[in-house]
Amino acid sequence: MSIASQLGPVSRTGPGSAPSPAAHELTSHRPDRVATWSTVYDDPGWGDPADDPAGEDPADDPSQSPRPRAAPLILLTPGPLTTSDRTRAAATFDLGSWDAPFAALTAEVCDRLTAILERGAQDYVCVPLQGSGTFAVEAAVRTFVPLGSGLVVVSNGAYGDRIAAIGRAAGRPVAHCRGAWDEPVDPAAVAAYLADLPAWYGHVAVVHCETSTGVLNRLEPIADVVGQSGRELLVDAMSSFGALDLPAWHPALTAIVAASGKCLEGLPGLGFVLARQGALRAATGQCDSLALDLADQRAYLERTGQWRFTPPVQVVAALAQALVEHAAEGGRAGRLARYQANSAALADGLAGLGLRPYLAPDCQAPIIHTVYPPPHPNWDFDRFYHLVRQRGFVLYPGKLTEAETFRVGCIGRVDPDDLRRAVAAMAEALHLMGCPNGGGRED
Ligand SMILES: Cc1ncc(COP(=O)(O)O)c(C=O)c1O
Repeated sequence: MSIASQLGPVSRTGPGSAPSPAAHELTSHRPDRVATWSTVYDDPGWGDPADDPAGEDPADDPSQSPRPRAAPLILLTPGPLTTSDRTRAAATFDLGSWDAPFAALTAEVCDRLTAILERGAQDYVCVPLQGSGTFAVEAAVRTFVPLGSGLVVVSNGAYGDRIAAIGRAAGRPVAHCRGAWDEPVDPAAVAAYLADLPAWYGHVAVVHCETSTGVLNRLEPIADVVGQSGRELLVDAMSSFGALDLPAWHPALTAIVAASGKCLEGLPGLGFVLARQGALRAATGQCDSLALDLADQRAYLERTGQWRFTPPVQVVAALAQALVEHAAEGGRAGRLARYQANSAALADGLAGLGLRPYLAPDCQAPIIHTVYPPPHPNWDFDRFYHLVRQRGFVLYPGKLTEAETFRVGCIGRVDPDDLRRAVAAMAEALHLMGCPNGGGRED
């Protein structure tokens, strides 16, 4: 039974006999995204309407909030992201977790997630896990790195640093190979680092797209040096899976960790690990956590068709719909093409505003951009954020400690026109703040 045919409740939300979700999404995703029930709510405490006559609403009454806005917010963040109405609609039905259709839905979601790996996919199984992406990263560390064995973390950003923190919290000796945040991981530096470590540091972990900056780490040469050193690679592909190519076929790769709410454009709340079958079998009984034991989670799923603990049924149903839309868009390559177009529209627009990117273009992933604010005394991120939000776009603060930056995502159910409109909103906000183009002083 296909995912689409199991999403009976979704078709009930459509007018009359709805077309298949895939067909509908292909023809037009934007009208679909702004269905009437898809409302967002103003936060009456945010922003000073006097700042922004365009956003002022004299009928604003905080006691009546939340108040539906005319148009939905577009989330230009690392997640949660803007999703299609059909994906959200799939989450509006009660589902029994022990009901056979839900077991079939889980199985098909797992199959589809594994297939996204393309070359090498046949060697992997999918282990879905309740919780956000960090839970799945911790599960991978606790499942694959045996107690008493060491973990090498190669990091060039906050999410890599988080893996090191997870390893330490899990009581694994961590060797932390840190690189500059504005550059991709250097495989030669990793090779040199690994050469000096004892063999009992058996696993290496790295982030594919470092969402804290948007820098892309090229996995194949990293996997090469990890494999040559006789170690296994764990990859945090949270913000890249579903859009960027992953060398799953590489023999050094043991596990790939991702989540429902990023490039797959599902709702947040579900992590998953694509695990090499042999490695997962070998890890049986070695996890030092009950809830995060991926080998047990998968074995139970295979034995019973069920999850071990209460599954996020609505999130799974939404992911099933999101995967239908992913396939309809042309799978990973199709999604990447749209994100590349989004990223180019964003980069052009920001350059037009005179805003400087943090990263060089050759290491910028088409996922999220880190931008320096204008070097102007009137700059104030909170005010900028609220002014842009009043115009319908949610931005994200930067994660750098040494310099002020902010981030603009280009993933989710958005297209290049959305990014261009977001840039126009930023231009208006800068104008209202008295920060002229490029941040230089106005004559
Ligand atoms: C690369 C990467 N790793 C890990 C995480 C953590 O995921 P979560 O916030 O869902 O726990 C994120 C979140 O954006 C991420 O981008």
